[in-house]
Formats: sequence, structure tokens, C-alpha cells
Amino acid sequence: MTSSHDALDSLDQRSVYAAPPFFGSAGAGNNRPIGVFDSGLGGLTVARCIATSLPHESIYYVGDTKRCPYGVRSEEEVRSFVMQAGRWLAERDIKIMVIACNTATAAGLRIAQQLLPVPVIGVIAPGARAAINSTRTRKVGVLATSLTVRSGAYMRAIQDLDAGVDVYGCPAPSFVEIVERELATGAHLQERWLQNGDIFDTQENRIEVERTLAPIVNGGAHVDTVVLGCTHFPLLAGPIRHALGPEVRVVSSAEETTRELRDILERREQLADAGNEPQHRFATTSDNIAEFAAAGSFIFGQPLKSIEHISLDELKSI
Ligand code: DGL
Repeated sequence: MTSSHDALDSLDQRSVYAAPPFFGSAGAGNNRPIGVFDSGLGGLTVARCIATSLPHESIYYVGDTKRCPYGVRSEEEVRSFVMQAGRWLAERDIKIMVIACNTATAAGLRIAQQLLPVPVIGVIAPGARAAINSTRTRKVGVLATSLTVRSGAYMRAIQDLDAGVDVYGCPAPSFVEIVERELATGAHLQERWLQNGDIFDTQENRIEVERTLAPIVNGGAHVDTVVLGCTHFPLLAGPIRHALGPEVRVVSSAEETTRELRDILERREQLADAGNEPQHRFATTSDNIAEFAAAGSFIFGQPLKSIEHISLDELKSI
């Protein structure tokens, strides 16, 4: 039996459905949680990296699954979703917020930084740094949702670091839905998780990924680095690597974002105490908590023990 199977088997449904009181009196000071926000499950790729690299930190994750995907919406709409989730998290005494979604970062990072009472970081500047640190030819592809590509946020972030880098945006409007769809059928995929960690590397997905990447693969761009500008996309890394071939490096923002987070907390002397018992709590707008738990545990790499439901009415009323 692999650990993912054990993790799913050991999900305690009572704790999933009835989240225990959280943080309680330990909510004060440096042991307050880091708020992490995404449109759904993709941000758990970032939350996992944070949990692994900063093992004493508590995390409060919000996934707006019901309104996912964000990438096909207008900037204005996504901006309002970012502010709703940001206010909800700020009310829960987080010490910093990570927008673990490129689309939400592109649309709402500035306004969140301006209006929320806590510091907020996004994933685009870290993703840009990861690309700059990787490229040798100074030609970089950005694979992202339509909104992120359209916003030009990656282009600006990369060229702020090196104005001589050519940036080729490649919208991948179908990828988020592929990932969310595969994860939604998670219960049926459990057996395959046992046999094959890369459940997304199927023939069907390879065809769709190749079709989407054709403009940067065949269009004469000659990129040597592609940044996964969507936190869902690391889950499609298998087919993406296959389409790009061995010469192209694939980077994502999770590690760089975690590094930036650690630097900020360290310099502000806000790292959690070494003896802190971290708590990981999750909230979702999905009506199907069991599905969120199964898919989320797979991405997070450990069981999501505490999940609560947030209604859209609640989010909109804050
Ligand atoms: N995970 C989000 C991102 O990083 C996008 C998913 C969506 O379209 O909602 O861009």
C-alpha cells in the first residue's frame, strides 16, 4: 500500500465534517496561521510546499471551488472574489496571506495589499524569479490561464527583473478543468493512485496538452524555460514535460513563493515558535466536502483532517 492510499483510508470523516474549534487561545502572536487562498484545489500545491518547508507554521486554506475556474472570468469579478476571501481570512487572525493562485494574483494582489489589514503576497513575482533563475537563452514561455496571460502580469514581472528576456504567453484555458475533472473522479482513481503517482499523464491529456503548447513548441519561440503560471498546472507536469521535450526546463512558483514567505516572516521575526504544534485547516465553497477531502489529501500529500464549508452568501456578506 502506498502512502496516498493510507492517507485517504485514514481520513477521519467526523473531523472532516465537524471541524473542531481551531487555534483557540493559541491565536496570538507568531503562531497565528498563514492564510492561503486559491480558486479551488490548485493552491494546495503551494500549501504543501509551505507545510513541508515551514513545518512549525499553521495554515488556514480557502479554496473557492464552487466558483472555479477563475481563469475564464473578468478581472473585476476575480478581484471581488479575492477581497471576499481575504476579508474572511483576515477575520480569522492570520498573520499573512498568500494568494496561491496566479489568476487571483494578477487580478487582485494590488487591491488586497491596499485594503486588507495583513500583508499579502502572490505567486507571480516568485514565478517570474524562478523563470529568470532558470533561463539561459533569455526566452521564457508562460503557461497560464487566459486571464493571467491577458493581464500581462508575468511579462511585467519577468521584464522588471531582466528587461532583455523575451516572454511568450501561452493561454491554456482547458487545463484547470482537466485537473479539476480528474480530481473530482478521485474516488474511482484511488486504485490508479496506488499504481501510478502521475494520474494525469494519460493519452487523452497528452493530446490536449500538445495541442495547447503547439504555439510555443512549433512557433519558433525557442524558449528554454516554461513557467507554470497556474498553481493547478504542476499536476499536469507529466504531459507538459512530454510535450516540451527534455531541452526545456519547467519551473513553478511554489518553492520561490515559500522562500519569499520564509524571508518575510524571518525578517519580521514572525516565524512560528520551534515548539509550535502546527494546525492545518481548510475551508471550501464546494458543496461536496468528501470530494474536496479526497482530492485535497492527494495534492496536499497528507489527509485534510479539518475542513469546513463556507457558503457564497457568507463570503459575499463580509
Ligand atoms: N490555480 C489558478 C491559478 O494559479 C487558476 C485556476 C482557475 O482558473 O480558477 O491561476
